[in-house]
Amino acid sequence: MAKQLIKNIKGLVLAGENFPRFLKGEEMKNLPILENAYVAKEDGVIIGYGRMDEWEGMIDWRDVEIIDAENQYVLPAFCDSHTHLVFAKSREEEFVDRIKGLTYEEIAAKGGGILNSAGRLSEMTEEELFEAAKDRLNLVLSYGTGAIEIKSGYGLSTEAEIKILRVIKRLKEESPIEIKATFLGAHAFPKEYKENHRGYIDQIINEMLPAIAAENLADYIDVFCERNYFSVEEMEEILQAGARFGLRPKVHVNQFSIMGGIQKALELNALSVDHLEEISDEDIAALKNSDCMATLLPSCSHFISIPFAQGRRMIDEGLAVALASDFNPGTTPTGNLQVVLSLACIKMKMTPAEAINALTINAAYAMGLEDTHGTITVGKRTPLLITKEIPNLSYLPYAFGDNHVDKVIH
Ligand code: NIG
Ligand code: FE
Repeated sequence: MAKQLIKNIKGLVLAGENFPRFLKGEEMKNLPILENAYVAKEDGVIIGYGRMDEWEGMIDWRDVEIIDAENQYVLPAFCDSHTHLVFAKSREEEFVDRIKGLTYEEIAAKGGGILNSAGRLSEMTEEELFEAAKDRLNLVLSYGTGAIEIKSGYGLSTEAEIKILRVIKRLKEESPIEIKATFLGAHAFPKEYKENHRGYIDQIINEMLPAIAAENLADYIDVFCERNYFSVEEMEEILQAGARFGLRPKVHVNQFSIMGGIQKALELNALSVDHLEEISDEDIAALKNSDCMATLLPSCSHFISIPFAQGRRMIDEGLAVALASDFNPGTTPTGNLQVVLSLACIKMKMTPAEAINALTINAAYAMGLEDTHGTITVGKRTPLLITKEIPNLSYLPYAFGDNHVDKVIH
């Protein structure tokens, strides 16, 4: 049915006009909630909302599908602005190695990590990859994700990177939700290029980027800027090449070490800098007053036992913070954003209001969807997340481990 009305909503979250493009610092504290409310959509677009006692006459209510949301909250569905959803197999053996005492970096040095996933992916067909990714996507939709960014990066050859990006393109075509594709050829150096960085970077710039642009397969470009991966100088060269093909950077920086990647990414007009488990005063000063989103990934810290990013401090210092899952087989084997919400509150000391803002309005901005997603605003087409019956919104991160989503209206 073309028209849908959700009525008797206990609390309608982030409904309003004239929101800024994203919230920073103090602004993140405020999470508007309209009590005893309704919201209406036509052909997927929000056409009105308000208080139940004012709804009559606001809209033509004939031929409307009606959903009763008594004791339930309605939010703009979460946006997951950082995932590696297209991958081959899970990596439990590395998980067990870490339990026995090895670190993520030690496991990578002995052939695990990204290269392990790239090897497995090369053995899979595009069809097999698509089917596996579709199942994962359906699962995260049931947890409240209403838009998702997906990176390549487990190919590490022109053919395999294109294979992943074609899978993402097909997901875009067949999924009910908005998907953004990010080219992450610079995720790791393949074994045969370990001593020949120049050779692989040339392949990224001269082969991969033109081929990807020819098929219009990417919206953004990413580089894993880290010791033993890509240096700041190597990232700069790759991002500059990406810019020539119209790809804006969203980058992995400061996961294990501080190398100056944040400053360089800002110079190169990055939309977001992601991870930031390690951060310096200079990094925070550089991010302040920029329009680059600091995107934090607490489920990665939790899973591989590294420090959590300092979300509390960043917000107190006035930064704009988003949260994302980082869903991937190595460092975050779940794309459940309700887990991220809990960890952000418990481990980063973000309030539930701040964390919900970080998963909606700020996350939408971090993937270029601020005009359509992230808030309940007339004209936007964000999917709507309807919670189960819950006492209040803090209950979402509080009662961790349960699925609090009743349904998502796409
Ligand atoms: O974001 N840090 C780089 N990339 C992924 C992990 C990749 C992997 O281990 O497969 C991340 O955590
Ligand atoms: Fe990542």
